[in-house]
Amino acid sequence: MAKTDIIRQLSEHFRRQNIRRVVVLTDENVEKYYPDYFSELSEMVSMDKIVLPIGEHTKSIDSAIQIWQYLAEKQYDRDTFLLNFGGGMVCDLGGFVASTYKRGIRFANVPTTLLAMIDAAVGGKTGVNMQRLKNVVGTFYFPDIQLSADVSLLDTLPQEEIYSGFGELVKYALIGSAELFHELCQSDVFPVIKPEYVDFCIKFKQEVVEKDPKDQDFRHILNFGHTFGHAIESYCAEKGFPIAHGLAVAQGLYYECLLSAKLGYLSQEEWHQIAEFLAKHFEIMPITDKIMPKLLHYMQNDKKNQHEEINFTLLDRIGHATYNHQIQDSTLFNL
Ligand SMILES: NC(=O)c1ccc[n+]([C@@H]2O[C@H](COP(=O)([O-])OP(=O)(O)OC[C@H]3O[C@@H](n4cnc5c(N)ncnc54)[C@H](O)[C@@H]3O)[C@@H](O)[C@H]2O)c1
Repeated sequence: MAKTDIIRQLSEHFRRQNIRRVVVLTDENVEKYYPDYFSELSEMVSMDKIVLPIGEHTKSIDSAIQIWQYLAEKQYDRDTFLLNFGGGMVCDLGGFVASTYKRGIRFANVPTTLLAMIDAAVGGKTGVNMQRLKNVVGTFYFPDIQLSADVSLLDTLPQEEIYSGFGELVKYALIGSAELFHELCQSDVFPVIKPEYVDFCIKFKQEVVEKDPKDQDFRHILNFGHTFGHAIESYCAEKGFPIAHGLAVAQGLYYECLLSAKLGYLSQEEWHQIAEFLAKHFEIMPITDKIMPKLLHYMQNDKKNQHEEINFTLLDRIGHATYNHQIQDSTLFNL
């Protein structure tokens, strides 16, 4: 999808829904590269813009308060439409503001990072962080319209952010499409991110979320790679060398595939194929006997757990996962 398609989808939606006032929420980087992205829409609606400082620390209740205040001072009413234009930080914060301002206003996401296109902008999870606790305050609140992704926005995205999104993309291939995984394997260098890969991930996530919007059961399938992934992300941050979310997820995929193979769900042949692919594109941190207890500590505090046992999604073949596996600590120590 190109920018013209996004503008067309939005203008049709605004016309149908009689939307007259639109506020764009973005961050400084996206503003720098794409200051006029929505300029054509100003012929049909009044447009305003809020530009946020970049970085995860902006995803806070303080930022939400500032945005609520701005909207209230400018007398934006319940018919105002919020357009979140940015990465996952902007989408999560903007979705949260939209769900709470005047008990909920309409909004849409125009994601600008690969991670946001295939994950954060889809599925209705909004939220802010509280000190070091990620996403601890939030809502389930769905965009008024799910737009297609404009992959050309990735041209300006730093390579590390592309890699981070690629970690999530590989997850979708592993749990949802053997065909996509095998296509990714064909490239010796880092694969070009084709629009159809992004479309597949969006559609896959939408279908899962439709079946379980509030993440009670089936949606847990999307957690593949994230139990180890979140623990590795927290461990690295604590050690003072933070890594991007998707890079931690890629390592999580590696260890959760290993676990799936050790428990007999995944064949040795497929495990070796996946391990080779992940090790080619991502740095995989060795998990020593010294590190495992620290990772376990984070896993035990993971919000995905039930009944105080660590909850895993496992792969039973490339392209298919099963969920809600309670795994004993001793199994993890013997990986
Ligand atoms: N709600 C969900 O379901 C969900 C899912 C996954 C992740 N998330 C959240 O998403 C956030 C991470 O998202 P992210 O990785 O997109 O980070 P981000 O939004 O912080 O963006 C990463 C960096 O890229 C810059 N950037 C964005 N688009 C750009 C572009 N097109 N060109 C150049 N620079 C650009 C940003 O300014 C920022 O510096 C986290 O807060 C995470 O919790 C939410």
